[in-house]
Amino acid sequence: MPKTIKKIGVLTSGGDSPGMNAAIRSVVRTCAYHQVECVGIYRGYQGLIEGEFQPMNARSVKDIINKGGTILKSARSKDFMTPEGRKRAFDNLVAQNIDALVTIGGDGTFTGAIVFNQEYDFPVMGIPGTIDNDIFGTTHTLGFDTALNTVVDAIDKIRDTASSHNRLFFIEVMGRDVGHIALNTGIAGGAEEILIPEEDLGLDRLVESLNKSRKSGKSSSIVIVAEGDKIGKNIFQLKDYVDENMEGYDVRVSVLGHMQRGGSPSCFDRVLASRMGVKAVESLLEGKTNYMVGLLNSVMELTPLEKAIKGKSKINLELLRVSDIMST
Ligand code: F6P
Repeated sequence: MPKTIKKIGVLTSGGDSPGMNAAIRSVVRTCAYHQVECVGIYRGYQGLIEGEFQPMNARSVKDIINKGGTILKSARSKDFMTPEGRKRAFDNLVAQNIDALVTIGGDGTFTGAIVFNQEYDFPVMGIPGTIDNDIFGTTHTLGFDTALNTVVDAIDKIRDTASSHNRLFFIEVMGRDVGHIALNTGIAGGAEEILIPEEDLGLDRLVESLNKSRKSGKSSSIVIVAEGDKIGKNIFQLKDYVDENMEGYDVRVSVLGHMQRGGSPSCFDRVLASRMGVKAVESLLEGKTNYMVGLLNSVMELTPLEKAIKGKSKINLELLRVSDIMST
């Protein structure tokens, strides 16, 4: 018989993403609804180790559903990777009478939660919060949709200057080792080519494709490059290669960087965060542990944390084909 859960801790860890605040709000308010105490833990696992706890009630999370970043702050904790660090974290949780943890973050966050659960049999529930969408067991991670909209907005603006000057722009987007942001924003932003780690286009084919589009009458072009792409060594070397191997294009590079992680969450991310928070808390109260909540076929589902990080979040091949056809 699992221990009755009377107090839940919530933390955000790893790279922040829009919607994390909405998820914190949902966790806190679902706890209040079920008359369970809730404690916010600052700076992710690092704050857990250093004892940065803050009791939270329904009113502590007012006016945050629309805010980017995370009010609980975030960190990538090296100390939590050590047994000594995790022991301190466990002792702090026991001292605070916390019975379970909701961890909001990406694969690093979940890896930490799994190890901690194995060592101390401590109930944990994950909420996938990362703009990269690289987690198995959910079609959307928190922040992915907002990041897509931010990137598309940036591409639209770059397109204005690209077409005014007849330029070729290479735009680098985030996504660590996966191409979800690149593929979706490339299609939505009308890119000529989209370079993602999952598909090796090759430099020659890239130049061939750009030449073909020039000949077909295009005077400017946009190429979206996922930061994890392997085609060129980096986006600036890619520009140099195209400069050397193509006539007539004025080439520019734009690296969008961390602006992709900021900003007010989209409606989709706010609703998703609210649903995920409810599911996470209620699953813990039902005695479930070591799962991640996710959106599958429009329904909230649980996936074992281990599977969430080890399973592959696959690129949609149909999108690849659509992008090929659209760049005709
Ligand atoms: O995982 C989110 C992410 O923004 C990735 O897209 C990117 O590769 C990485 O984090 C950047 O991390 P940092 O903010 O630590 O430089």
